Amino acid sequence: MKEIQIIIRAVEYASCDELYGDDAELLQTARRTTQYAYAPYSNFKVAAVGLLSNGAIVSGTNQENASFPVGICAERVMLSAASSLHPGIPISAIAVSYSSSSVKDYVPITPCGICRQTLMEYQERFKQKIRLILSGQNGKVLVIENSAHLLPFAFESSSLTDQPL
Ligand code: THU
Repeated sequence: MKEIQIIIRAVEYASCDELYGDDAELLQTARRTTQYAYAPYSNFKVAAVGLLSNGAIVSGTNQENASFPVGICAERVMLSAASSLHPGIPISAIAVSYSSSSVKDYVPITPCGICRQTLMEYQERFKQKIRLILSGQNGKVLVIENSAHLLPFAFESSSLTDQPL
């Protein structure tokens, strides 16, 4: 018997002004892009903006539906668009933000479970870490250098192929 401990690394910044490199601009774009979400049911408008390794920027917003489970999160809209518009190009960083008139929108957002699984697949596929920059419309920013840290004990492609007999 052994105990397994997993370390999850995240860095918290007091505001967007403290971010390095392109991160601040990416986050500001995500904050603005929330206006394009279609979220009439939750009124929780989310945007994910990805920076690809070729410099391209790809955005996604959540798209809800009267049949609630049909709705899709901003992160997965963005990942699917990036993969379709720029096939074979890895994603270096994704900024995620949200806006809402019914809840306080200054607490950093963190991706849902399905989006964590999807992010994991993209990281694995391109063998390149995806940095997540997570924030609301203002206030603290959470930066996670490795998306896989959001999904310990993940089920991934190797689970289907590398299992010992
Ligand atoms: N949502 C996202 O788009 N991304 C997240 O990381 C969390 C939740 C969406 C799904 C739904 O349209 C709304 O936010 C409320 O859950």
